[in-house]
Amino acid sequence: MEHNQLQSEKSDAPLDVLIMAAGLGTRMKSRKAKVLHEVDGRPLIEHVCRAAQQLNPSRIYVVVGHQAAEVEAAVTACVPSGLVSFVTQEQQKGTGDAVNAAREALANSDSTLLILSGDVPLVRANTLTRLFEQHRESKAAATILSTRLENPSGYGRVIRCAEGGFDKIVEHKDASEEERATKEINSGFYCFDTKKLFRALERVHPQNAQGEYYLTDVAAILRSEGEQVGIYLHPDARELSGINTRAELSEFENLVRRRTIRSLMVESGVTFIDPSNAYISSSAKIGQDCVIHPGVVIEGDTVIGDTCVIRAGTRITNSVLGNDVTIKDHCVIIDSRIDSKASVGPFAHLRMNARVAEQAAVGNFVEMKKSTLGKRSKSMHLTYLGDATIGENTNIGAGTITCNYDGRNKHETVIENNVKIGSDTMLVAPVRVGSGSVTAAGSVVTKDVPPDSLVAGVPAVVKKHLVERKDEQER
Ligand code: UD1
Ligand code: MG
Repeated sequence: MEHNQLQSEKSDAPLDVLIMAAGLGTRMKSRKAKVLHEVDGRPLIEHVCRAAQQLNPSRIYVVVGHQAAEVEAAVTACVPSGLVSFVTQEQQKGTGDAVNAAREALANSDSTLLILSGDVPLVRANTLTRLFEQHRESKAAATILSTRLENPSGYGRVIRCAEGGFDKIVEHKDASEEERATKEINSGFYCFDTKKLFRALERVHPQNAQGEYYLTDVAAILRSEGEQVGIYLHPDARELSGINTRAELSEFENLVRRRTIRSLMVESGVTFIDPSNAYISSSAKIGQDCVIHPGVVIEGDTVIGDTCVIRAGTRITNSVLGNDVTIKDHCVIIDSRIDSKASVGPFAHLRMNARVAEQAAVGNFVEMKKSTLGKRSKSMHLTYLGDATIGENTNIGAGTITCNYDGRNKHETVIENNVKIGSDTMLVAPVRVGSGSVTAAGSVVTKDVPPDSLVAGVPAVVKKHLVERKDEQER
């Protein structure tokens, strides 16, 4: 006992985080685990992991069950592997059972345990820090993060005793009419003295409407043991709302999107022609005086400089644009870079590290893959550039194809500076066209071309009077 008192008085107990993410999320009506559904282009679990990491915990434990491998992959994509441990909950017998799955790893730890739900994506690190600080300063055995909801239906209600302190949490399904009238709900986030939590968990039984082990019962058990249980009542209910259905998923998506676009307009000086019809990742950056037209989708960590114009229906993913770039309508640009004063589209497809240098132009129905178009060079119509490096001031004629694939391997094409590639040229890679050279329309280039050369194929032969005119036959 003396030992325990010493522990609880230690104000600087290390912080561990436990995220519950083993449930299927039946109300999503999905084959995919709920925490893998996305808001703002990232799985729900990633939002929670990112918030948790900002608190610098010693370790993050993630309880997995349904689609454990996929959930683990989503977590390791955003949390350094040295910081995270996975705990498997074999059968989903409730939130108390989920935490109990970490008993071996945590039961004897001197830490404070912050418990989070994987399905509450908007929670801010700031709020979690306040919860943690109140818990630490009050030296409580447990602190519950609560909020007030106009429509608290479905949530666990926080019931206070006459003096206003914590009494118990009652799940909606187990609550009396009177208890259901309470608008203060349990957000599903808590801080616990880790050892006391695991001791109290031994006393949780599944005698309730859902036949589950409720983590929420732990708080009342601790209180009945004379321990202090605190409540941190948070004013922003939205931030603490969980996602249980697809309708809620889309509400959250809209909310995050509206916030992102508003901030780009108000803080960054970006014009949106129709803010309700643009889809911008919250981690994208867009510079001053850019104009974003309707139907534009900007995903991932895309960075766009100043004074760019992005026309209707374009998607840009994880790409970097300089200043004064114009992207015309209906382009798809993925993992690529477009330098200042360049122009792309309409209907262009850039992918896998395509690069368009300053003042270069890519036109309609041009696909670029792993290729560079040098400064002031142009490729304006109906062209495929794959594994190609193109120098400066070069023109690629309509219908040009880099034949980069021999059925087994990909090969490179190099086109140097000041080259004119005639319409419909086939460049059979590996091949190099030296600077200043010209290819005639329809050339099939199979060998390297030295600088300042003309490549001309055999032109079609014209055979006079060989076509019988129909009207002559009829005569
Ligand atoms: C829970 C709380 C409720 C609170 C609400 C807030 C309990 C008993 N109830 O209810 O008081 O108002 O959250 O959002 O805790 N999970 C597991 N294993 C399980 C069951 C759940 O890992 O066996 C995970 C889920 O994947 C989810 C989280 O725990 O991420 C919460 O579970 P959920 O079923 O959504 O609980 P609620 O009914 O929302
Ligand atoms: Mg829930």
